[in-house]
Amino acid sequence: MTDENLAAPSGTFRIGGDLPVVRLGYGAMQLTGEGVWGWPADRDGAIAVLRRAVEIGVTFFDTADSYGPTVSEELIAEALRPYADDVVIATKAGLTRTGPGEWVPVGHPAYLRQQCELSLRRLGVETIDLFQLHRIDDAYPLADQVGELAKLRDEGKVRHIGLSEVTIGQTQEAREVTEIATVQNMFNLVKRDAEPLLDYCEQEGIGFIPWFPLATGELSQADGPLAQAAADHGAEPSQLALAWLLRRSPVMLPIPGTKSVAHLESNTAAAGITLSDDEYATLDAVR
Ligand SMILES: NC(=O)c1ccc[n+]([C@@H]2O[C@H](COP(=O)([O-])OP(=O)(O)OC[C@H]3O[C@@H](n4cnc5c(N)ncnc54)[C@H](OP(=O)(O)O)[C@@H]3O)[C@@H](O)[C@H]2O)c1
Repeated sequence: MTDENLAAPSGTFRIGGDLPVVRLGYGAMQLTGEGVWGWPADRDGAIAVLRRAVEIGVTFFDTADSYGPTVSEELIAEALRPYADDVVIATKAGLTRTGPGEWVPVGHPAYLRQQCELSLRRLGVETIDLFQLHRIDDAYPLADQVGELAKLRDEGKVRHIGLSEVTIGQTQEAREVTEIATVQNMFNLVKRDAEPLLDYCEQEGIGFIPWFPLATGELSQADGPLAQAAADHGAEPSQLALAWLLRRSPVMLPIPGTKSVAHLESNTAAAGITLSDDEYATLDAVR
């Protein structure tokens, strides 16, 4: 580990049992315009954030075809190609965009296949490391949506399959169709509805990717719910929110998002924070 490998202390998780990622990753949705639409105001800044993430040891990047749309994937390719051997890109399909802030599920198998092909092209890879169904579309059978992803994996276009915003029942139903390597649901210190799903994932060895790990910044605020604990620990509030997630479960793969190199460095340094049992309990009581 070099001095700059800030992410490494978070440990490693093997997605699908064979694809190692450093557990504290990065979510690339923020690298877009207002309403996750169009290009970010500071395009060079976005490239700098992605490159700095790799420099400080982040290996797991989460994106989606719908971020921008296409913008986040394009920036990842521009910033990170040629990809370092240990960089793992997770993308998603299944939500289409009809305008800023609008997200409409589309789970037609042919659409999912098309979006996989387009993500392969934009990311400049032969295989997508982790391809996640962004939302289940009630208009089509779950087995058809997940089944199409399984076909893409059998064709070598996808290495592992993940789900997003699902229940335990839907995860079990999908697992009857094919192997599911990860689940991505909203989860953070103050939003824990997905706790039973997290416990299920831990029991089954499925990676759990909590989206909005910082409650979209609420947990980063100097006057937010973690202010006192942060002062007591000599850490930033967002660092404690991430340290709590990392300790909560060994299958937890947080993907904090930011447009700022300084925030990226601070968030990633959370990997090195060890919470005592008392500190963990104090944080756990914040809801
Ligand atoms: N599966 C899904 O349906 C789904 C839905 C939403 C998101 N996601 C994924 O989850 C990832 C994370 O979500 P997110 O980025 O929206 O929310 P987040 O990580 O909870 O919070 C990001 C917000 O917190 C601020 N922030 C980050 N670090 C900070 C720090 N150290 N100090 C102060 N403020 C800080 C950011 O502002 P600055 O830019 O100013 O730092 C940004 O406004 C996304 O990038 C995406 O990959 C998935």
